[in-house]
Amino acid sequence: MSEQKRPEPKRLFIETYGCQMNVYDSERMRDVLTPLGYAIADKPDDADLVILNTCHIREKATEKVYSEIGRLRAHKERRASEGKGMTITIAGCVAQAEGEEIIRRAPEVDLVVGPQAYHKLPELIARAARKTGERLAADFTAQEKFDALPARAPDGVTAFLSIQEGCDKFCTFCVVPYTRGAEYSRPLADVVAEARALAEGGVREITLLGQNVNAYHGQSRGGSASFAELLDALAQIDGVERLRYTTSHPIEMTDELIGLHGSEPKLMPYLHLPVQSGSDRILKAMNRRHDAAFYRDIVSRLRALRPDIALSTDFIVGFPGEREREFEDTLQLVHEIGFASAYSFKYSARPGTPAAAMMGQVSEEAKAERLARLHALLSDQQRAFNASQIERVLPILVTGDGRMPGQKHGRTPYSQSVHFQDTQTENGEIVPVRILAASQNSLTGARLELAPEAA
Ligand code: 5AD
Ligand code: SF4
Repeated sequence: MSEQKRPEPKRLFIETYGCQMNVYDSERMRDVLTPLGYAIADKPDDADLVILNTCHIREKATEKVYSEIGRLRAHKERRASEGKGMTITIAGCVAQAEGEEIIRRAPEVDLVVGPQAYHKLPELIARAARKTGERLAADFTAQEKFDALPARAPDGVTAFLSIQEGCDKFCTFCVVPYTRGAEYSRPLADVVAEARALAEGGVREITLLGQNVNAYHGQSRGGSASFAELLDALAQIDGVERLRYTTSHPIEMTDELIGLHGSEPKLMPYLHLPVQSGSDRILKAMNRRHDAAFYRDIVSRLRALRPDIALSTDFIVGFPGEREREFEDTLQLVHEIGFASAYSFKYSARPGTPAAAMMGQVSEEAKAERLARLHALLSDQQRAFNASQIERVLPILVTGDGRMPGQKHGRTPYSQSVHFQDTQTENGEIVPVRILAASQNSLTGARLELAPEAA
């Protein structure tokens, strides 16, 4: 019998830019493609299929995509000279927003696929390989996608679960309502079933995802379930020990949801609640539909119910019309609230959004100078927050091995990384750890209650 040579597995490389929704979507793309025989490659050079899962939220993110396409072109040409192919696929929000332009500008791109078409990837890639000329797939609905994607294979103890997509808020700086479309919430029963499957597969911490996650209003037996009702249902699932959600909008922080932060121990005391600016005039021009006092009030109500809650937020500096005194209102708000972590960005004009056409665009220099001042203050606060954990004993969800031999890695209730000496604990256990030292981005600690031989 002649020896049969096994076919080499095809190699898939996915590069993810931008938000956690994209991280989740990349996992789902991997899940639909691996059954077709793709093995994951850790660099694009020798991949048969490369997917760039792109972000359109700021100009820089878009530019990166075009420069990465340029780099891929060289790999594709080299592989072609070796008689091998490389299918280049652009996914995500740049694909949705600029699909036709990518097709025109980048002939080496084989396929452009919008965020609602990922369930069709196997077919689309096969068509692209046959050079049928169909290179753009951007018109599907969110529901179609969620219904068609396979249940996720959990690969650890923490997982993202996408429950909502799109946005109807139309903040004047933001492209999301144009790229991800109208708000869509998955039915309650589907989310609960997926969470149950994750828990059965060993997942202990679930982060619910959505562009406007707390605007969730999914279909349920009683009509429509609110976000707080969904959290409540998920908290009942055995095995789910920790719940988080991102990213939320202040005006969707209902009394019910704020109340749940006080009463539901599985809801972690860490909330990402973007404020964008501390100036009422700028918040109005941003169409945020709340003022700074409204934000302060939510924070004080949350803190009254859950005194250990830590906050994270997003800021934009140099929004059109922002003067020094308005920027100082932002600094003032940061001083008053005290954030455990935050993302801050220079305003970036996105074509087609109302703010791009506003008078009073702020100079690059002023934006850079304000960003540096805000950054400095926020990193001081982050360092102080981490340092405030020293000597506390925190419940740590163990997620894997640590940096050094004999160490484990885990997460605090505030999502900070912790490394500690321990060889006995299994991934997925929640164990008490005394925090001993803190740096800007992680903590080290000592496990309590270890069996005597390991202590
Ligand atoms: N310019 C700068 N930052 C932006 N963001 C959204 N759109 C823009 C823009 N045009 C920021 C906001 C948002 C985060 C995801 O990205 O702070 O909360
Ligand atoms: Fe963009 Fe505003 Fe919607 Fe957030 S709420 S996705 S910032 S439009």
